[in-house]
Amino acid sequence: MLRQNQTSISEFLLLGLPIQPEQQNLCYALFLAMYVTTLLGNLLIIVLIRLDSHLHTPMYLFLSNLSFSDLCFSSVTMPKLLQNMQNQDPSIPYADCLTQMYFFLYFSDLESFLLVAVAYDRYVAICFPLHYTAIMSPMLCLSLVALSWVLTTFHAMLHTLLMARLCFCADNVIPHFFCDMSALLKLSCSDTRVNELVIFIMGGLILVIPFLLILGSYARIVSSILKVPSKGICKAFSTCGSHLSVVSLFYGTVIGLYLCPSANNSTLKETVMAVMYTVVTPMLNPFIYSLRNRDMKGALERVICKRKNPFLL
Ligand SMILES: *[C@@H]1O[C@H](CO)[C@@H](O)[C@H](O)[C@H]1NC(C)=O
Repeated sequence: MLRQNQTSISEFLLLGLPIQPEQQNLCYALFLAMYVTTLLGNLLIIVLIRLDSHLHTPMYLFLSNLSFSDLCFSSVTMPKLLQNMQNQDPSIPYADCLTQMYFFLYFSDLESFLLVAVAYDRYVAICFPLHYTAIMSPMLCLSLVALSWVLTTFHAMLHTLLMARLCFCADNVIPHFFCDMSALLKLSCSDTRVNELVIFIMGGLILVIPFLLILGSYARIVSSILKVPSKGICKAFSTCGSHLSVVSLFYGTVIGLYLCPSANNSTLKETVMAVMYTVVTPMLNPFIYSLRNRDMKGALERVICKRKNPFLL
C-alpha cells in the first residue's frame, strides 16, 4: 500500500464504449457520421445567423452562442473517442485528462446558462412585448453571455483544481469513454469527501437554479398567454416549443444521469445516458431549431439566393 502511494500515475486508460469487436467498424462509422453532422449543423446555424441581418436579434444571438457551445462540447469528447475506436490505444496523459474534464464541465455549464438566457428572452418577448427592445438591449445580452462565461470558468476551474489535488495510485483504468469527474473520483486513493461535497453543492446550484429559472419563466409565459390570447403572442410562443424540447432533452438526460441511483450493474445505463448527453443532444439541437423555424428557413433561402444572384450583393 505504501509503495503504491509513492508511485503517481502519468496516464489513464479510457475503456471506451462497451462494443463487440465485430461491431467496431460499424460503430466507428456511426459516431463519425454523428460528429460530422454535429459540426456541420451547428456551423450552419452560426454562419446563417451571422450572415442574415434579420436574425440579429437577442434570441438568435443566444442560439448562435448555444450552437458554438454545442460544437465545442462535442469536440471535447468525440475526437478522442473516435481515435480510440480506430487505433485501439486507450491511453490518455494525466494533464490531457484533466483538461478534458475542465472543458467538458465548461461547455455543459455554458449550455445550461445559455438556455436560461433564451428562456428569459422569450419571457420578456411575451410578457412585455412593448418594452422588448428597451429591455433586451445589446448591452444586457452581452452582459448575460459574459456572466455565463465567468460563472462557468469559475465552476469548471474549481472542480479541476480540486481534482488536481488528489493522488492516483495503482488503478488507472477509467471505465468510460471520456475523463468523467465521478469516474476519476472513484479511482483516486486520496480522501474525496471535499470533492463530493463540492460536487453536490455546486451541482445543485448549477443545474437546479437554471432549471427553476427556466420553469419559472415558462410558468409566467403560459399564464400570460392564458390571460390574453392574441396573434402576436402566439407567434412569439411558436419558438418556445423548440426551446422547450431542447431544455427537456438537456435536463432530462442530465437529471437521469445524476439523480438515478447508481448500482454496480448500471454502468451500461450510465454509458448510454452519457452518449445521449454528449453526442446526441449537441447533434439534435440545430435540427430542433431549424426544422420548426420559419425564420431560419427564410434566412437559408435568402443566403443561398444572394450567392446565386450577384446583383443583390
Ligand atoms: C454571442 O452573443 C453575443 C451577445 O449577444 C454576441 O455579440 C456574439 O456575437 C455571440 N457569439 C456567437 C459566436 O454567436
